Amino acid sequence: MEKSRKVYVETYGCQMNVADTELVLGILSREGYVKVDESANADVILINTCAVRENAEQRVFGRVADFRTYKKSNPGVVLGILGCMAERLRKDLLESESAVDLVVGPDEYRKLPALIDGALEGEKGIAVKLSRVERYEDIEPLRTEGIGAWISIMRGCDKFCTFCVVPYTRGRERSRTLAGIVNEVRQLSVRGFREVTLLGQNVNSYRDGEYDFADLLAACAEVDGLMRIRFTTSHPQDVSDKLIRTIADHSNICNYIHLPVQSGSDRILELMNRSYTADQYLRLVDRIKATIPGASLSTDIIAGFPTETDADHRKTLDLLRTVEYDGAFTFKYSPREHTKAWKMGDSVPEAVKIGRLNEIIDVQRAISLRRNREEVGRTVEVLVEGESRKSAQDFCGRTDTNKMVVFPRNGFAPGSYARIAVERANAATLFGRHVVEETAGSMS
Ligand code: 5AD
Ligand code: SF4
Repeated sequence: MEKSRKVYVETYGCQMNVADTELVLGILSREGYVKVDESANADVILINTCAVRENAEQRVFGRVADFRTYKKSNPGVVLGILGCMAERLRKDLLESESAVDLVVGPDEYRKLPALIDGALEGEKGIAVKLSRVERYEDIEPLRTEGIGAWISIMRGCDKFCTFCVVPYTRGRERSRTLAGIVNEVRQLSVRGFREVTLLGQNVNSYRDGEYDFADLLAACAEVDGLMRIRFTTSHPQDVSDKLIRTIADHSNICNYIHLPVQSGSDRILELMNRSYTADQYLRLVDRIKATIPGASLSTDIIAGFPTETDADHRKTLDLLRTVEYDGAFTFKYSPREHTKAWKMGDSVPEAVKIGRLNEIIDVQRAISLRRNREEVGRTVEVLVEGESRKSAQDFCGRTDTNKMVVFPRNGFAPGSYARIAVERANAATLFGRHVVEETAGSMS
């Protein structure tokens, strides 16, 4: 390449996609590309997409339309669609969207440099094969310096929940090696990162020979005692007692588990192929709370799965009240072609879905508020992230339990730990001030 080409990437969807974008930038930077933060300066525009719900796809189609207009005045620009929508829609995307030059699925990113070269010569390119082995183990993601880093520890999913398109767009589950991941944590620690989040569609089924996810977590935690270790997402079926103990035994493994339940009704859980009952889930929650004092839990809920009745819905509300999550991500059921649930029809009317979703949100907001207010009067340890979004005089950071805390800057530096006395709280954020530690022997 005579001069470095500029690449702009827009990312939609989950944290796996954010990590995949860093991977794609890692692959392209090896070939001399530079990342730019605005599409106006770019030679190549890539959209890393999500296919998990219809509205995620609609947003991407909206962006493709924007770039179609943009390409009229900048015809040399290459536009590529990456990720789950590329995998789901394949050549249909090239045929229906004339502005699109490249369609590249999650297991084909190594081909991007060659495909872009072709596109610059006017050739449309497509690469959407799924792989049983691709782990991108040798590729260093291009990360933005900061406090937290993502590490993909595995790819794909074998669970086949009946509503979910992920097993079709990301393929079979495969884990990276424990040694490779631990090495990455070590390098990130040396570079000054203070928190890593281990990512996978279902991290609890991680496996490297005799090592399971609990072994991996323990090995990562032992790299640097001041480095926080988070992980997401957990499938309830695979949360072992060994894993719960491992979290409890390591102070730098965060006491926070995102544990999607999806529904509180056994009948719906069975139709979803979730492989647990509400009662089994609640017993798991009890084990977590008993072993990890102060553990924080969050969940995903789907409202309006096919055939869901008001009675099913009320079981979901009951479960929310029983567990008392700190937070919940809530979604309206969205039918996805090729999934098993697609064949069940989309039987719950839109207005009913919206009503149920709103009820779930209201119940959970009240619980989140109550849980956060319990923190008022306590002192929490916060990893300082940087300036608060709302005020330059304040810093923000998270507790180990993943609660956002806002407090006066007070000479703190991002990346340090601060002890904050919580003075007030809303459903999303705690507010407080720095605790001046009493030195030994001071008068009380
Ligand atoms: N409709 C609505 N929500 C979905 N999710 C996955 N597939 C669908 C769908 N078809 C939600 C689940 C999952 C989260 C990442 O997205 O709750 O845990
Ligand atoms: Fe989808 Fe279920 Fe796999 Fe999560 S565990 S990615 S919801 S199939």
